[in-house]
Amino acid sequence: MKNNKIGVFDSGLGGLSILKYLQTDVPGYHYLYLGDNARLPYGEKSPEDIYKYSCQAMDFLFAQGCALIIVACNTVSAQALRRLQQEYLPLNYPHKKILGVIFPLAEEFANHTKITRIGVIGTKATIASGAYENEIKKLNPNLTVETKSTPLLVPLIENGWAKKPETKMILKKYLRPLKTKQIQALILGCTHYPFLSKDIRRIVGKKIIVPDPGKIVAKSLENYLKRHPELNLKPQTKTSTSFFTTADIDSFKKEGEKFLNSKIENIKKIKID
Ligand code: DGL
Repeated sequence: MKNNKIGVFDSGLGGLSILKYLQTDVPGYHYLYLGDNARLPYGEKSPEDIYKYSCQAMDFLFAQGCALIIVACNTVSAQALRRLQQEYLPLNYPHKKILGVIFPLAEEFANHTKITRIGVIGTKATIASGAYENEIKKLNPNLTVETKSTPLLVPLIENGWAKKPETKMILKKYLRPLKTKQIQALILGCTHYPFLSKDIRRIVGKKIIVPDPGKIVAKSLENYLKRHPELNLKPQTKTSTSFFTTADIDSFKKEGEKFLNSKIENIKKIKID
């Protein structure tokens, strides 16, 4: 099998917020998207389980011919990426690569001259890991990072409640303490949150920058591909995207198409445990 694909892994639908930008900003590649919807939410799981599930997901995507996998899920990036890169890859796939999303997002603000106070929202597991503070402070120790876990948002989004007034109320409650701390930028540290970005931007106000994580990850992938010709990932004229979910296809399609803003045609239900 040709190893000419790029995998995108998320615990559910959230990673579509990243895939959307990869398709438009880094075209010319075959993307394979895997959502482990059956075992979501990862944000409530132990680091050991998150690592175990992620290894199974990586095994599946590499077996489909991926040369590189983007771990779109912040929870996995925060809790398991280091072990995936340092233990799992050298042992199983020494010539392949796995990238996360936290470093590119942290880097975006590290050298921003006007921003000194950054807010981060994420799942319980992401916030508990301290991964965003660590990465940001490693890059620029003068920045202040305020974090808040917002665990109700993922189940609301996965169940199609993104536009409900109840979700807006919960968002307001979650974001108030960060506004009080006078953050100047807010990192959406969970792949699901960009689906609420309109409401989030409205609640925090124009003065707080809320960048689109997918855009930043796409820019960083583009640079990475330039720097790693050994992966042999060459842009093609004819490309395709395939989708895999560990849960129900119909609900993945129904909710996913809203998020992706395009049709999800090529989709299969798989078992990875
Ligand atoms: N997609 C995950 C993230 O980016 C969160 C969803 C979950 O809890 O499984 O953190």
